Amino acid sequence: MLEQIADIRENQFKALHEIGKEINSLREPNSLLADIMDIAIKALSAERGFILLLDENRIPAEVVAPRNISESSAHDLMQIPSSVVRKVLDSRQCILSHDALEDPRFKDAKSVVALKVRSVAAVPLKIREEMIGVIYVDSTKNRKMFTQSSLEFLEAFANHAGIAIENARLYQTLQHENISLKRDIEKLYPFKEIIGESAAMKHVFDLMQKVSRSDVTVLIEGESGTGKELVARAIHANSPRCNKPFVAQYCGALQDSLLESELFGHKKGAFTGAIQDKKGLFEIAHGGTFFLDEIADISLALQTELLRVVQEGEIKAVGDTAVRKIDVRLLSATNKNLAEEVKAGRFREDLFYRLKVITISLPPLRDRGEDVILLANYFLKKYAQRLNPNVNTISTDAMKLLRSHPWHGNIRELENMIQAALVLAEGDAIAPANIPLAQTDLLETTDLNLKSMEKKLVVNALKQFGGNRMQAAAALGVSLRWLQYKLKEIDPDSIEK
Ligand SMILES: Nc1ncnc2c1ncn2[C@@H]1O[C@H](COP(=O)(O)OP(=O)(O)OP(=O)(O)O)[C@@H](O)[C@H]1O
Ligand SMILES: [Mg+2]
Repeated sequence: MLEQIADIRENQFKALHEIGKEINSLREPNSLLADIMDIAIKALSAERGFILLLDENRIPAEVVAPRNISESSAHDLMQIPSSVVRKVLDSRQCILSHDALEDPRFKDAKSVVALKVRSVAAVPLKIREEMIGVIYVDSTKNRKMFTQSSLEFLEAFANHAGIAIENARLYQTLQHENISLKRDIEKLYPFKEIIGESAAMKHVFDLMQKVSRSDVTVLIEGESGTGKELVARAIHANSPRCNKPFVAQYCGALQDSLLESELFGHKKGAFTGAIQDKKGLFEIAHGGTFFLDEIADISLALQTELLRVVQEGEIKAVGDTAVRKIDVRLLSATNKNLAEEVKAGRFREDLFYRLKVITISLPPLRDRGEDVILLANYFLKKYAQRLNPNVNTISTDAMKLLRSHPWHGNIRELENMIQAALVLAEGDAIAPANIPLAQTDLLETTDLNLKSMEKKLVVNALKQFGGNRMQAAAALGVSLRWLQYKLKEIDPDSIEK
């Protein structure tokens, strides 16, 4: 007997310990309620149980975590005016009955009879002094299953459970508030990952906002590294198509047939190597946005195919006779002057006008004034944690240096320079010495030929990074694709590793 009591005490002690842990862990309310029920059932060796929750008007609202009892039976138990649950609700007191079937308080309650309730205990679940529900446990087998001490335990347990539930609910409310505040902020600053307060950028944001709402084609112009792809992605992300795919295809320096099959797909056997049907990217982007990057480089033959996409919303896979309907919004980008390309006969005029219903011209960094400072600080914050957490500022002199640099490589060049400076910095600030502007001496030359200058820069960057193309491209402020394209033009022997 004594041993039995010791066991019960131990179980109850464990239960209080477990509910203590629940209080300290931030939980989702429903799974917390399920745990509360399970802990209570185990601690009291109860057979059945459930938690009844009240709504804000203190009206019984729902039965949660029913154990070994159907939800409807649990509902029956609480509907009957003379039932145990009702008594707890009305009296706000704990109820214990050793043998409900014989108990004059309940023996006439149909639910008690129908559900063969014998031992039963039910306690109010409170948050501070406010009653939010009832914890109910019972047994059909044993009389005297629950004692006065079980009831005292359950009451203490319910008080702790109330705190855990309050914590979980508060946490959930905060989470919901946080999500809705973030949404509000996104509405206020829809392009927050694009930094810039210069007049030129304000104009860009204004246009972006307007074109995001509709399906018009947008041509994004700008030098290399001015943020064309970033802008294209942001337009998509703020458009009604945001939950559909955004697919980007680089069109520069790609073999015509390869690009065609990438864009439109191909049928099995359409050409050597076409061992099975392949879906084109336009089809993958269906419903979403398609970004044609470096559009100026596309061949005249492909331009005709593209015209069909823009005009009719139709695609035809390579080797296929059937056309398919697709719904994509087209954005395109170029760092060339597309009007010049049209004049030179390299770009179809009809396609040109279809693609540039609206044109967004991205200013080069050297025309963005104080944006250099904003961007430098933005990249510092973005990369410091990963590259050098001790650094939290850029010294005034270093900032002056950044401000006066001509920025041919644009924002990517600035971004990479800040990354490099972070790696090199020794104290808590980026100093002028940490800013690798060394490549400027290459410009102090009498050779003004652009191609040969490009070659020198590429070769130099590759040397500096031991042949690592990714790093070399990053340092030059160009895309890897651009670098690879240039490398094809350059005699490989002139590149030492
Ligand atoms: N306004 C900006 N704010 C913050 N980051 C920017 C901004 N503009 C560009 N960047 C960053 O600079 C880098 C280059 O941007 P992006 O690739 O969009 O340029 P691009 O014009 O497409 O370049 P390329 O012509 O080389 O393809 C990216 O890392 C991008 O996140
Ligand atoms: Mg790009």
